[in-house]
Amino acid sequence: MRKKIVAGNWKMNTLPAKGEELAIEINAFLNDFQLNDNTKVIIAIPYTHIDRIVQRIGSGKLAVASQNCSQFEKGAYTGEVSAEMIKSLGAKYVIVGHSERRQFFGDNDELISLKLTQCYQNGLLPIFCCGESLDERNQNQHYDVVKTQLINSLAQVGKSDIENTIIAYEPVWAIGTGQTATPEQAQDMHAFIRKIVKDLFGSEIAAGLSILYGGSVNAGNAEELFACEDIDGGLVGGASLKIEEFKTIIRSV
Ligand code: PGA
Repeated sequence: MRKKIVAGNWKMNTLPAKGEELAIEINAFLNDFQLNDNTKVIIAIPYTHIDRIVQRIGSGKLAVASQNCSQFEKGAYTGEVSAEMIKSLGAKYVIVGHSERRQFFGDNDELISLKLTQCYQNGLLPIFCCGESLDERNQNQHYDVVKTQLINSLAQVGKSDIENTIIAYEPVWAIGTGQTATPEQAQDMHAFIRKIVKDLFGSEIAAGLSILYGGSVNAGNAEELFACEDIDGGLVGGASLKIEEFKTIIRSV
């Protein structure tokens, strides 16, 4: 049975002290809440917060992710943070290929492949993001775009690594816009992604892969989205910074 996952993506928000408060609140909620063994809650936080938050929450039900990592192992790469460094702080996951990184920081399929390799080599589990822009959807290119992103970054990945990968489908037009994909649009793309993974890696791996939906997930729409057959949870931006809303989203999964 594949895992259900709610991952909060804080992006470049909160100062460390505030982030720590929020993480402690989420952790306390999870300690009281009967989260079933098959469900995971993750927070993807700024690098500057990882050490402090991992120290405070320990290795309980809440797991920590970074929002990026370097494509390089180590060396003269000023300003970069390696997967090994992230791992050493106790984070378990890394978001790779988020559309904001593709848009603003030049993360293309090739760079994303290198970052995935760094994650696998260091025992970090990537949350690989894919998704089309509004123009691409309007021109009916969304299937091709997502397929290309998946094939370019994942086709060379080994089977044992793919089993340790989470995919997040995030249509760019739905991120931070309040315009969520309908459950039908999201389910349709998730089924398509699972089919591609099946063609690449076989039906057992495809059936076990968690595919998250991201893009304006909130307390009001999470339940309906998560009820879809191929939607195994969400990657939640804005709403993950609002504690009550994030709790409702966790309850929905
Ligand atoms: P949003 O962001 O929930 O604020 O739309 C989602 C994401 O970027 O992961």
